[in-house]
Amino acid sequence: AIEGLPAVPPMGWNSWNTFGCNITEQIVREQADALVATGLRDAGYRHVIVDDCWAAPLRAADGSLQAEPSRFPSGMAALGQYLHERGLKFGLYSGASDQTCTQLLGTYPGSTGSRGHEEQDARTFADWQVDYLKYDWCSSDSDHGEQVTAFTAMRDAIRDTGRPIVYSINPNSGVADMVPGAEFDWGGVATMTRITNDIAPVWSTNADSSGPQGVIDIVDAAQALAARVGPSAFNDPDMLVVGVDGNPGLTLAQQRTQMSMWAMMAAPLIAGNDLTRMSTQTLDLLRNRAVIAIDQDERVSAGAPVDDDAEIWARAIGEKGLVVSLTNRDDHPRPMSVSLSSLGLVGDVTVSAIDAWTGRRYQAEAGEITVDVGVNDTVLLQIA
Ligand code: DGJ
Repeated sequence: AIEGLPAVPPMGWNSWNTFGCNITEQIVREQADALVATGLRDAGYRHVIVDDCWAAPLRAADGSLQAEPSRFPSGMAALGQYLHERGLKFGLYSGASDQTCTQLLGTYPGSTGSRGHEEQDARTFADWQVDYLKYDWCSSDSDHGEQVTAFTAMRDAIRDTGRPIVYSINPNSGVADMVPGAEFDWGGVATMTRITNDIAPVWSTNADSSGPQGVIDIVDAAQALAARVGPSAFNDPDMLVVGVDGNPGLTLAQQRTQMSMWAMMAAPLIAGNDLTRMSTQTLDLLRNRAVIAIDQDERVSAGAPVDDDAEIWARAIGEKGLVVSLTNRDDHPRPMSVSLSSLGLVGDVTVSAIDAWTGRRYQAEAGEITVDVGVNDTVLLQIA
């Protein structure tokens, strides 16, 4: 673990998926208040991250970034203070090239990316008491060496401030012909690294890696990347889409699969829904203690498929614990089995398991544990 940085995956809320460029300080405060009122803060969701479009299109006369005054009239230091007073952490966004992503896309004016301004911007963030920086690459220039240089420059600038700041990078967007977040191990550069293009609130987009990705597409992309995960170093499969409308959207079972598999990956849990209008079902998914405890396990080792079966993953927990996920990708409910030998549990062992979602207990029979799994649902077994 790196001093001052969380050893376990960061948790929080991010403005982008619900509010995009319409984000305001008033909205951020309301979402922060909702984190507190719903118990999500106390369940671990502490980082409140203001994504793209918070910055005024022009830098100040001295070259520093400034908040867009009509939407953030009190300024960023005041917003950070508001969050800190409530036991929350302050996250902010910048671009790794001359422009942020929306500026590159032409949907937001200006040119306020931090490339070439790394030291000044990192000092600004530290002055504002920022705890988390999301640093985003959207240039269609997919030159890998330039990416490494740009992301490393901001890492060093943040370090030089002396303030512990979670460094969350996205080397994917806008890059059409490759997915560098997955192809290159960014360990040592960032606290967390996006491994795919943007998530969409659907099961699968059936798109190639250059387009938006569904929940199960991202699970598949993560399969081979488990070895990169460790204390203060996480793969970022993008935000939770629990409680987010989509077309056709996600069933409750599919949302449970997202929570389950993000926990299996030891992934950051960053909600993106409107926390002021959540259903009880959404809140129950986000706040489930047993699932969060798996995600936040201090051993910080990511799960991976058992015997190359994409539906069954195992993750080592604690000193000698084990969690097994069984995801039903079929369009009908069915029993699913995992053999004890495939989990390395051999010899004269009595094995029982508890489903983290339901608390239901299962006993191994004839060397196998069998569970009924609904369509696109996941049973998350804690083996004892
Ligand atoms: C692309 C990222 O993947 C999104 O999460 C978001 O940060 C947007 N850029 C903002 O422009």
